[in-house]
Amino acid sequence: MKVLITGGLGFIGTYAANRLLSLGHEAVTFDTLAGSSPEVAELLKGTEHFRGDLLNPMSLFEAVKKHKVDSIMHLAALRNLDSQRNPYLAFRLNCEGAINCYEAARVFGLERVVFASSSAAVAPKDFYDPLGFEELPDNPPLRPINVYGVTKAFDEMMGKEYSVVYGLSVVGVRLALIYGPGKKAGSKTSGWNDLIERSIQGEPMTQSRLSDLQVSINYAKDASEAAVCAVTAKNPPSATYNCTGHCVTSTQFCEAIRRVIPKANITLVDDGAKPATHGRFDTRRAKEHLGYSPVYSLEQGIEDHVKILSK
Ligand SMILES: NC(=O)c1ccc[n+]([C@@H]2O[C@H](COP(=O)([O-])OP(=O)(O)OC[C@H]3O[C@@H](n4cnc5c(N)ncnc54)[C@H](O)[C@@H]3O)[C@@H](O)[C@H]2O)c1
Repeated sequence: MKVLITGGLGFIGTYAANRLLSLGHEAVTFDTLAGSSPEVAELLKGTEHFRGDLLNPMSLFEAVKKHKVDSIMHLAALRNLDSQRNPYLAFRLNCEGAINCYEAARVFGLERVVFASSSAAVAPKDFYDPLGFEELPDNPPLRPINVYGVTKAFDEMMGKEYSVVYGLSVVGVRLALIYGPGKKAGSKTSGWNDLIERSIQGEPMTQSRLSDLQVSINYAKDASEAAVCAVTAKNPPSATYNCTGHCVTSTQFCEAIRRVIPKANITLVDDGAKPATHGRFDTRRAKEHLGYSPVYSLEQGIEDHVKILSK
């Protein structure tokens, strides 16, 4: 199978392309960037690249036609904080960008579009607490928590419509917080990556206990595996799947870092911060329909992260 990955030179795209190749598939990275760092280029050895802009549908159509791809994995997006700062661009890249992928797949008769949705598209845990749910249900009502979540909810809904109206296979993977080497700095959740990467240097840090709220967190290789499972699965019947990883508090994450990196120098503080979190997601359908479940335990993910950065 040949898969075009929008945002293929980004954090998750790089791991997904590498994984597709290791499974014997082909990958074409589609990105506004011309190229990548030497480390990323090493991961992408064997892939093809098309420099294009998702905001220009013709550029995407040209890439699909030129490379004769079977499916699209759509990962390019404006991230959380940037979407909050610039809703107009968020709409253009995250919503129009997704529609451009659905259209390309419809026009060229592709097998499937897989896209990355987000926990931000659904209501946080406290919405469900009065209903007595221990895990966030797998087919929750869309109730976005911010601008970024609104754009991802749009992608989920429009994806469903393309399935209904055109019979196109559109599969969403609903991801939560992801850590791993290569994550962009300055995003809403990059602080979790900093905890690992600055601990390697033994730098002193303070981290909020986040009111001991549980956060869903996934290692990058597992998150990208979810997208790979979604693009390779045989006829998944559902539209969007919860594809999250482990559920931990900030304290538990820091303890795991200390176990892997004994010189970690993190001080936990009770600052009353209480972000909108989702707790544990029900991921049974992702396992059943896509064959996806995370492989890395928390410690294994942190160990792998440290190993890659130490190379
Ligand atoms: N990283 C996370 O913690 C996380 C969590 C939940 C969901 N997601 C979703 O997963 C997907 C991948 O996230 P990521 O962390 O790899 O993002 P990233 O920002 O690292 O990568 C995005 C890539 O898209 C490219 N891009 C931007 N605009 C483009 C355009 N107009 N045309 C073509 N390419 C363009 C960028 O150059 C970049 O290489 C996104 O859809 C994101 O919303 C990520």
